[in-house]
Amino acid sequence: MNKLKCLVTGGAGFIGSNIALELQAKGHEVIIADNLMSGAMSNLKGFNGEFLKLDISRPFELNQKIDLIIHQAAITDPRFKDDDEMMRANIEGFEHIIELAKKNDAKLVYASTANLYGNGPVPMKESQEKELISVYGKSKLEMDFMAEKLFDKMQIVGLRYFNVFGPGEQNKGKAASMIYHLYNQMKEGKNPRLFKHGEQKRDHIYVKDVVAATIKAALLPKAESTTWARDWQLPLMNW
Ligand SMILES: NC(=O)c1ccc[n+]([C@@H]2O[C@H](COP(=O)([O-])OP(=O)(O)OC[C@H]3O[C@@H](n4cnc5c(N)ncnc54)[C@H](O)[C@@H]3O)[C@@H](O)[C@H]2O)c1
Repeated sequence: MNKLKCLVTGGAGFIGSNIALELQAKGHEVIIADNLMSGAMSNLKGFNGEFLKLDISRPFELNQKIDLIIHQAAITDPRFKDDDEMMRANIEGFEHIIELAKKNDAKLVYASTANLYGNGPVPMKESQEKELISVYGKSKLEMDFMAEKLFDKMQIVGLRYFNVFGPGEQNKGKAASMIYHLYNQMKEGKNPRLFKHGEQKRDHIYVKDVVAATIKAALLPKAESTTWARDWQLPLMNW
């Protein structure tokens, strides 16, 4: 496999750090761009690539030839207080990353979200109607529209992650996964706190599976990766 020069935005965050470390382990050169808004350097033990403390939602220059961009940076906390800033930062950040990908003729894989399906029927399908329940989801749907328009012009793949859990999410506080919160309650000797009567279903995915899926989408040739990403689903977990 060719050694690629990869940029991981949001690479100090939960999912981004797992992706950056795996790309590094596979022998690729990795640059991380992160403003440390919700990410932390403690997620990057063992990372020996370049770290750029950078707000990608503001204009920036990166004068290095990049082969692959994995775009994870975003304001991710649905409870973030400033709706306008969340829309601006997530969308303008994506615009800058698209420009960078075009300039480098680099493939771009970005994180969308299952939040777009709202409280719609399960198991959720790509084809079902979107139901926007948060500004966060609105910003991500806007990103998907931007990506759709570029589909014939560049190599771009968006992945709608569901509820991700696993190592690296401890810095997310309240925005960490339900699994993480239940785990902590049980570790403290408390009963796990389920709402209503515990009959609800939620689709969870382990972060290492998200990493594998993201890297696979990044490394497959265009035609294959889009079909594969569209059809790829893990079985729904019942709770
Ligand atoms: N965790 C999940 O369950 C989940 C589900 C669906 C989609 N996603 C998406 O996956 C991506 C990663 O999520 P996560 O859970 O790792 O979140 P996270 O908050 O841990 O990571 C986001 C990272 O982006 C950085 N960042 C934010 N704004 C930035 C900016 N303007 N410039 C540079 N860096 C910036 C943060 O500091 C952080 O390190 C996000 O785009 C998120 O929307 C996550």
